[in-house]
Amino acid sequence: MALWHSSIPIENTNRTGVRIMRFIPSSCLKPGMVTAKDLYGYNNELMLSEGQVLSRIEIIRINLLKFQGIFIEDELSADIEVENVIDLKLKNNTVKALKEIFKQTERGEVEYEDISYLKNKVDDIINDLIENKNVAINMIDLKIFDDYTYYHSVNVFILSIIIGISKGMQKQELYKLGMGALLHDIGKVFVPKEVLDKPGKLTDDEFEIIKTHSKKGSDYLRDKWDISNESNLAVLTHHEKVDGTGYPYQLKGEKIPEYGKIISVADVYDALTSDRPYRKSMLPSEAVEYIMGGSGTLFEPSIVEVFVARVMPYPIGTCVKLSNGLIGIVVENYTENCMRPKIKIISKSKNDDTYCDLYHERELLNVTIIEIADL
Ligand SMILES: [Fe+2]
Repeated sequence: MALWHSSIPIENTNRTGVRIMRFIPSSCLKPGMVTAKDLYGYNNELMLSEGQVLSRIEIIRINLLKFQGIFIEDELSADIEVENVIDLKLKNNTVKALKEIFKQTERGEVEYEDISYLKNKVDDIINDLIENKNVAINMIDLKIFDDYTYYHSVNVFILSIIIGISKGMQKQELYKLGMGALLHDIGKVFVPKEVLDKPGKLTDDEFEIIKTHSKKGSDYLRDKWDISNESNLAVLTHHEKVDGTGYPYQLKGEKIPEYGKIISVADVYDALTSDRPYRKSMLPSEAVEYIMGGSGTLFEPSIVEVFVARVMPYPIGTCVKLSNGLIGIVVENYTENCMRPKIKIISKSKNDDTYCDLYHERELLNVTIIEIADL
């Protein structure tokens, strides 16, 4: 998710000095488009620099790595600024450190220094997010398909911390929540790869095997790691559902620890917005709606409430079509009403910028976003 605030200022400017950027799905990229942000590849190497003109080869590489899309700058997107939630380098280094830990766990030889390096990264990210208390997830994530587990775990960690901060948690609590979130799927190391990576539908037996990962992860951490009981319980219960239909213990509502319930929401949201071997990713708007729909059955309502105030269904830079027939780009979101962003209209022929502020303009009350548009 490179969703997000960044401590790195975004300096792209057009001729008039305003910042410019919008998100283009990989399938719609064309040679000659100009990138608006640095893009990092599989080994954290710089694949594209901001301001680079895309060639056909680069577009093929972006598609091969299965990025959902990239940010480009053009005249349509004048004045749209997209900020990272956390520094991208810090995020990528955390992904790398986590990958190393998973590999070591697989070999059964985890290095103490690597664990403490990872713990430092957890601290750094939490401090970054605390500094930006009002941070909202307002950017489409750029994920690499192949390293899914590690990117996913770091995203779940960031989302969980944002929920925790919104719920008023203190640093120590955030740290325990964060460790649980980052390591929530470490038990997958102990699940056979052919089951874990199976592209087709799982049989009942295979699903039962997958379901062992939360208990296996918790047992492993209890035996080999020095992490808090709360973090461990979060790992154990991240697949429980408030109506008692989850696993491993079919716990209901109050019986599920708070951290497990927070990680559950973050986990499902990030999984739904990612491409998987067996399905295409959902749009943020669809995934937010799924989470809202599961409030009270799958998820804890008070957590869903916080979540939808922080994770924007229409991230800045998204092209949308409105029910009044106009097409535009989301330029601002409001945490008070995440479904009603401010949109810069681009389907009019006149030169002046026209905006539809769905939250503040009373005359637009009957106008809704009907679909994501391709421009
Ligand atoms: Fe899991």
